[in-house]
Amino acid sequence: MKLLVTGGAGFIGSNFIIYWLKNHPKDLVINLDKLTYAGNLENLKDVEENPNYRFVQGDICDSSIVDSTMAGVDVIVHFAAESHVDRSILEPSEFIRTNVLGTNILLRSALKNKIKRFHHISTDEVFGKLELGEKNKFNERTNYNPRSPYSASKAASDHLVRAYHFTYGLPITISNCSNNFGPYQFPEKFIPLAITNLLEDKKVPVYGDGLYVRDWLYVEDHCRAIDLILQNGKIGETYCIGGLTKEINNIEVIKKIVGLLGKTEGAIEYVKDRPGHDRRYAVDWTKIKNELGWEPQGDFDQLLAKTVDWYKQHQDWWKSVKNGEYKNYYQTQYGIK
Ligand code: NAD
Ligand code: DAU
Repeated sequence: MKLLVTGGAGFIGSNFIIYWLKNHPKDLVINLDKLTYAGNLENLKDVEENPNYRFVQGDICDSSIVDSTMAGVDVIVHFAAESHVDRSILEPSEFIRTNVLGTNILLRSALKNKIKRFHHISTDEVFGKLELGEKNKFNERTNYNPRSPYSASKAASDHLVRAYHFTYGLPITISNCSNNFGPYQFPEKFIPLAITNLLEDKKVPVYGDGLYVRDWLYVEDHCRAIDLILQNGKIGETYCIGGLTKEINNIEVIKKIVGLLGKTEGAIEYVKDRPGHDRRYAVDWTKIKNELGWEPQGDFDQLLAKTVDWYKQHQDWWKSVKNGEYKNYYQTQYGIK
C-alpha cells in the first residue's frame, strides 16, 4: 500500500510515520510537509534511510505539488495543519489558509486521483467546552461549537471532508482526538513547554486559575487508533479518541512534572488567561472501543514519566527548536524572554 501522510514532520505525523513503517514494513510512505516552524526533519532521522520512506517538501495549498505527490497513492492520512490555539489567537489567517483551503485542495486532488481512503485527523476542540463537575463527555454525536480560530478552522475542515463524502462519494473517515503528549512535541504546547522550561530552570506559565481540564492521550495510542480506523473503520464514519486521565487539571499535571524533575512548586507562575479558554475536555471513546477494539494503554503517570525522560535525553532536539522564531513567539505570547 502507498500512503501519503501530510504534516509528517510535525509531532503526531512523525510519530505516526515511525509507527507505520515499524508495523507495516512493506508499505511505502510519502511525507508531504511544508516545514513550517513546527515541522522538523530531525524527528524522522531514524527512518530517513528507509527505502520505503520518501519526503516531499511542499505546501498543501499548492495544487500542483499536491496533484503530483498524490499520483499512485492509495491512502491519505491528513495531519498537516496550523495546530496551536494561542498562535491562532495572535493571528488566525494562516489557520484558515492551511486548515481550510489546504484541506479543500487535498480533497479535490484525492477525488481526481480516485484515492481509496482519505483519513482526516481532527480534534475534540471542534465540540467546544465542557464545564467542571458535569458528567458529559464529547462523543461522535456532540454538536459542533468551536470557540477559537484554530478550532473553527478545524471544524470547517471536518465539514468539508464530510461534504466531499456526501456530495462526491469520496471514501473518508475522520477522527477527533484529545490532547496528545509524548516525544517530539513542539515546546509551545503545555506539557513539553513545562518540561523544557523546568529543565532550563525557568518558570512554567499557567493560564488563569490553572483549573482547566484536558483528556491526555499518549501519541502512540493515537497512532494505533488511526491504524485500526484505516484497517477496519467504516467509510463515512467519525471516531472519537481519548485518553486515560481522570479529570486531571493543569495544576495537577504541572505538579507531577515538577515532582518528576525534582523541582519546587515555586517554579509555577500564574499568568493572564487565554481568551475564550475552554474549561474542560473529556472524550467518550466507547464507539472505537466497541467497533474496532481500541483502548488507550498504560497509565498516565508512567507515560508522563517516560515523556519527561525523553525530553531529558533529547536536549539537543528541543534546544535547537527553542531558538530563533520560538524566542520571538515566546516574547510576544508571554512578554518574558
Ligand atoms: P504540529 O504543529 O506539531 O505539526 C504540523 C505539521 O504540519 C508540521 O510538520 C508543519 O510543517 C506541517 N504543515 C503546516 N502547514 C502546512 C502546509 N500548509 N502544508 C504542508 N504542511 C504543513 O501538529 P500536531 O500537534 O502534530 O497535530 C497534527 C494534527 O493533529 C493537526 O491536524 C491537529 O489539528 C491535530 N490534532 C492535534 C492534537 C494535539 O494534541 N497535538 C490533538 C488533536 C488533533
Ligand atoms: O484537544 C486537542 C487539542 O489539544 C489540539 O487540537 C490542539 O492542536 C492542541 O494544541 C491542544 O490544544 P490545547 O489548547 O488544549 O493545548 P495546549 O497545550 O496549548 O494547552 C493545554 C492546557 O494548558 C490548556 O488548558 C491551556 C493550558 N496552558 C497552555 C500553555 C501553552 C497553560 O496554562 N499555559 C501555557 O503556557
